[in-house]
Amino acid sequence: MNGREQWGTRAGFILAAIGSAVGLGNIWRFPYVAYENGGGAFFLPYLFALLTAGIPLLIMEFTLGHKYRGSSPLTYSRLSKKAEWIGWWQVAISFVIATYYAVIIAWAMSYTYFAVNQRWGDDTGGFLMGDYLQRVDIVSGGTPGDLGSIVPGVFIPLVLVWVITLGVLFKGVKRGIEVANRIFIPLLVIMFLLIVIRAVTLEGAMLGLDAFFKPNWSEIMTPGVWVAAYGQIFFSLSIGFAIMITYSSYLSKKADINNNAFITGFSNSSFELLAGIGVFAAIGFMANASGVGVSEVASAGIGLAFVVFPEIINTFPGMNGFFGVLFFGSLVLAGLSSLISIVETFVSAFQDKFNVSRTKAVLIGGGLSALISLVYATQGGLFFLDAADYFINQFGVALAGLVSVLAVAWFMKKLPELQSHANGVSDFRTGLWWKVCLGVITPVVLGYMFVQNTIENLTSNYEGYPTSFLLYSGWGVAIGAIVIGFIFAALKWQKNEQRSSEDQETGVGQ
Ligand code: ALA
Repeated sequence: MNGREQWGTRAGFILAAIGSAVGLGNIWRFPYVAYENGGGAFFLPYLFALLTAGIPLLIMEFTLGHKYRGSSPLTYSRLSKKAEWIGWWQVAISFVIATYYAVIIAWAMSYTYFAVNQRWGDDTGGFLMGDYLQRVDIVSGGTPGDLGSIVPGVFIPLVLVWVITLGVLFKGVKRGIEVANRIFIPLLVIMFLLIVIRAVTLEGAMLGLDAFFKPNWSEIMTPGVWVAAYGQIFFSLSIGFAIMITYSSYLSKKADINNNAFITGFSNSSFELLAGIGVFAAIGFMANASGVGVSEVASAGIGLAFVVFPEIINTFPGMNGFFGVLFFGSLVLAGLSSLISIVETFVSAFQDKFNVSRTKAVLIGGGLSALISLVYATQGGLFFLDAADYFINQFGVALAGLVSVLAVAWFMKKLPELQSHANGVSDFRTGLWWKVCLGVITPVVLGYMFVQNTIENLTSNYEGYPTSFLLYSGWGVAIGAIVIGFIFAALKWQKNEQRSSEDQETGVGQ
């Protein structure tokens, strides 16, 4: 065995995995993705995606990390030397996500503070774009691609976000990540439950819930809704970008896999459902209060949490500041526990490949991502963030998920072996369902998604942004992650870590 760090307890691992899964994706992303994809109609494809891709892939990633005991690059290289680049590609995707994810947490920190006396005023959209983000086109007539200067109101909380994240990672798996999640997750659940209970008891809440739960069958037939559901599941469950492989590489030999994957998957979706209920109930309340339809309240796009929610909080019948702090504070906690896991993927990969200490890996990897995140803290940062988030999800997370499934299931034909490994240590066994989902359903759906997305993005520019801007801020970022994957895979291992999978398997209990 290679003296790898380990979780202190089973609960410690599960909390960390849930902490990673439950993040901005659940609270910041889910409501607007659901809105843009037919509101309530999104619900069924989402559940289908969870059961056919989300949980099966989570089991696969947990099994890979547990069996091969390495960061994503080390795990893939132990599977096959030719597959190492997939691990590095996933790590590069995580790196990109870390750089903008940290900035959204920084916004949420500012908004937690603004919530105390609803500093955002009545024009919450104007406040976000103009006063707070000082968006380059609004403030100084710039266009997407112009950076402008660093926005102090974003920069200061951003420094705090990185200090907390890297501070936790310096302390390691058991004393850092595990302890942080033991504090963050229970606190997050309590805070969020309070908001949801309040939201569903508001007048008009039923209007919103009705919109959320009522399936709109014509929308369900739209392929785009399914594509969005799969994309959301991948981002939300932290699969396809190295995280779950890394976290499960710190499991003990006897740790359960299948059960842990189901617990993590269902906890994440329960939280997402809870967030959906809370958000839609609040939107119903707002619609009722302003006498308009539910669909008119929510604006699409990433502003939903930072524009519509402040508006809703303004309209609350009482304790506005308290509920505002709870909402944005939840966003901060959920975000931090996920950011920690995202950064840990490259910390762990650097440690494995270059044989450096954790401290050095955190300083170099974390430091570099913190530095790059400054791009998104500029006046033009929002455009870069929007493009990077879209492209790295469409042509990063989901695509890496597809490639990893194809490599494992079809090229290396490892599903039976991985399944017997997972079944051997788990409370309950998976059967044909798992192999059919990973071998057939997931590749077909993700393959279709990839073709659709490529056609769509080649024929029209995302959000109508200029082509030159999208080339470097979107396409360049997604393709760059693949290139980085190949470059790092070509570098030499500094420690004799990368043994063949056969050697490794003899060293690791089944
Ligand atoms: N899984 C994390 C989220 O949902 C990345 O935000």
